[in-house]
Amino acid sequence: MTKKYTIAIIGGTGDLGSGLAMRWARAGHQVVIGSRDGERAAVKAAEFTEAAGVAIAGAENAEAAAQGGLVVLTVPYASHAATLDVIRPHLDGRILVDVTVPLVPPKVRTVQLPEGGSLARRVQKELGEDVRVVSAFQNVAAAHLADLDHDIDCDVLVCGNDKDARATVIGLAEDAGMKAWHAGRIDNSAVAEGLTSILIFLNGNYKIDGAGIRITGTPGLAGQ
Ligand SMILES: NC(=O)c1ccc[n+]([C@@H]2O[C@H](COP(=O)([O-])OP(=O)(O)OC[C@H]3O[C@@H](n4cnc5c(N)ncnc54)[C@H](OP(=O)(O)O)[C@@H]3O)[C@@H](O)[C@H]2O)c1
Repeated sequence: MTKKYTIAIIGGTGDLGSGLAMRWARAGHQVVIGSRDGERAAVKAAEFTEAAGVAIAGAENAEAAAQGGLVVLTVPYASHAATLDVIRPHLDGRILVDVTVPLVPPKVRTVQLPEGGSLARRVQKELGEDVRVVSAFQNVAAAHLADLDHDIDCDVLVCGNDKDARATVIGLAEDAGMKAWHAGRIDNSAVAEGLTSILIFLNGNYKIDGAGIRITGTPGLAGQ
């Protein structure tokens, strides 16, 4: 049985964070969703509690981060830096799971990685080694996460410099109904971040409702 965490999902009022929130709450974790607006967080938390059938709390982003034993960042790239500033005082000693994809509209079907090659790599550098940054979930479509009884046909690549932190996030991915893999150091996050633009391209080109990825040829090895 995986350890149970208090998980703060910053931007958890949105499409991706809400699916993770409901799935983790159903798996027995304490979940608090964060918003710029504490009132909106409370309203959305009540809505997700009703949909998931299990309690989910809501708070303003900084307050949510302060409550989280583990913090997950799920905001659009354009608001990533500002949001990180808000929660920064609460991250030391924690795992920060960064789900953010550095998409630059309108060309979201084209890979446009930030300077330094990867957003998560830059975040780890900025925050220092007291925060264990783990990058994950960039390739999972929010619509699939929101369909709570649906098996998710997408693996999760988990990148980070600390193997134990990666293992924790692999456990959380499994709790949310996905296979996840140790995918190496945080620098490797560049590939998961870039892959999302290819998946968005595939969705448009082939009329797919949320394309995902699978690691093949290794049955039974996920998470090891
Ligand atoms: N959607 C997907 O299928 C998907 C899949 C994989 C990865 N991702 C990545 O996951 C992240 C979140 O995606 P999403 O689709 O959940 O995004 P979203 O629904 O557009 O936004 C998530 C939350 O971010 C907050 N936010 C929005 N604009 C903001 C701003 N200007 N400043 C501060 N906060 C702002 C909002 O919360 P409040 O208004 O309550 O503060 C919003 O509910 C993105 O980086 C995305 O690329 C998404």
